[in-house]
Amino acid sequence: MRVDDFYDRHPISEHEVLAAVARRRGGDLSQLSPDDLFEFDQDHYGGLQAVDELASRAGIATASHVLDVCAGLGGPARFLASRRRCRVLALEHHAGRAAGAARLNRLVGLDGQVRTVRGDATALPFRDGSFNACVSQEAFLHVADKLAALAGCHRVLVPGGRLAFTDWIAHATLGERERARLAEWMAATTLQSLEGYRALLGRAGFVGVESEDLSDEWRSILRARLARLRAMRRDMAARLGEARFGEYEQLYAFFVGLVEEGKLGGGRFSGSA
Ligand SMILES: C[S@@+](CC[C@H](N)C(=O)[O-])C[C@H]1O[C@@H](n2cnc3c(N)ncnc32)[C@H](O)[C@@H]1O
Repeated sequence: MRVDDFYDRHPISEHEVLAAVARRRGGDLSQLSPDDLFEFDQDHYGGLQAVDELASRAGIATASHVLDVCAGLGGPARFLASRRRCRVLALEHHAGRAAGAARLNRLVGLDGQVRTVRGDATALPFRDGSFNACVSQEAFLHVADKLAALAGCHRVLVPGGRLAFTDWIAHATLGERERARLAEWMAATTLQSLEGYRALLGRAGFVGVESEDLSDEWRSILRARLARLRAMRRDMAARLGEARFGEYEQLYAFFVGLVEEGKLGGGRFSGSA
């Protein structure tokens, strides 16, 4: 499956974020703050705490100019801008998500601090040394040429700038048929092991590379996410349609099953340019 096709059908969208906020606020979407969105606009595992952990590893401070690679609807970018007071450039490939991120930035008054650019992680449209920090969450799984994406991050960082990201990692027991199904259903490709990613980071030019295996942490997070998805069946099926909900539930259960079996997990990586 193509990545853009997967996100065309993804249940987290600008529309769904605003619908959830509207339900929470009794229909009132006036004078929204970034905090009003945070429960709904993060498309990764571990919520705001995970973004904060990444920000610490990337050394993000008020003076930082940060690149969020594969930024989705811009939830993490707005959190960084709001909490660390830095400037963030949110790069996203999907046209609808990039436009949605820009609208959400404006809606919460962060468009001065967070800029959205539509582009491809493997061909970053920025000059060398443009950023102090690069972050990315649960997105490189979609990028076939991970070395090109990592080398691009290295190129656009100032010397000594920091990269920190989280992503799926494949454990040795993940089979070829399971990899093929993840590619077909979730546009997940060339999945790396922890060691594979460390080697790619070295080849991309990063030094002082650190990696953490988050697989145990993610297992309980993903178990809870699947239970929550199923608990929302009636509501979500009414909004998305029974067929689309059923399709998403099936692929999500397959993915979480692989995590439960220890075949798939998560890793957090950091290094200096
Ligand atoms: C799971 S979402 C994560 C979004 C965001 N990082 C977050 O945590 O909320 C993955 C995002 O990566 C984007 N993406 C995938 N491949 C990309 C590429 N080659 N270049 C830019 N964005 C890409 C997808 O369109 C999607 O919005």
